[in-house]
Amino acid sequence: MIDLVNLSKSFGTRSLWSNVTTTVNRGEMLALVGPSGSGKSTLLNCIGLLDKPNSGEICHEGKDITRFGRRETRRFRRDVLGYLFQNYALIENATVAANLEVAVKPQRASRKVTGASFAEALERVGLAGRADERVHHLSGGEQQRVALARLIVKQPALVLADEPTGALDHANATAVIGILREMAEGGCAVVIATHDDRVRDRCDAVFSVDGSALVAAHSL
Ligand SMILES: Nc1ncnc2c1ncn2[C@@H]1O[C@H](COP(=O)(O)OP(=O)(O)OP(=O)(O)O)[C@@H](O)[C@H]1O
Ligand SMILES: [Mg+2]
Repeated sequence: MIDLVNLSKSFGTRSLWSNVTTTVNRGEMLALVGPSGSGKSTLLNCIGLLDKPNSGEICHEGKDITRFGRRETRRFRRDVLGYLFQNYALIENATVAANLEVAVKPQRASRKVTGASFAEALERVGLAGRADERVHHLSGGEQQRVALARLIVKQPALVLADEPTGALDHANATAVIGILREMAEGGCAVVIATHDDRVRDRCDAVFSVDGSALVAAHSL
């Protein structure tokens, strides 16, 4: 799905990580772990084309996505990528349904064909019947599950999740990680930056970002 080849990143003279080489396949869930400040979010942001590595390649379907221009970047974000942020990135003042609407590609919306119907997606995240509520009235855990429902509707090939359970209680964290696991089993590649051992233990492989290099992965 995605090949990282010899990636390096520094800010000024400070090297964050270097010679990062690994592959994330469809159906796989990869945990990025490491101390605060080691560069987990930065690595996710490089894969999500929100930041650029200083050297190396990120290949998707044979193309180095770090060289994408604006148009290809937009298309990659629209057609391939799903992002799950710690702060949910929802439209606060809109309803749950309106937040799911933004995940639907224009051409699909006009044909009324979606990956999963909104009702199905909300059912899967335990928010059946809540479509008309405004997001700012929901709890943090509920908002994170709306963000997940949006991914279920979008069905991206690649999901990048930055501390998806960081603000959640045990039950919500378990629900979120279970849904990400299901998405992987459905053929999606999932990369998760996390401090949470429960998340790491549900992943297929773990990478440790130790501050100067991405240390060898081990498969669980
Ligand atoms: N645009 C930037 N310019 C300069 N330094 C930056 C920039 N973005 C991030 N950094 C620095 O890079 C380092 C890595 O940040 P990053 O957010 O990737 O770490 P992290 O591993 O995700 O940490 P945490 O576990 O706390 O989320 C930090 O020291 C941060 O200050
Ligand atoms: Mg981070």
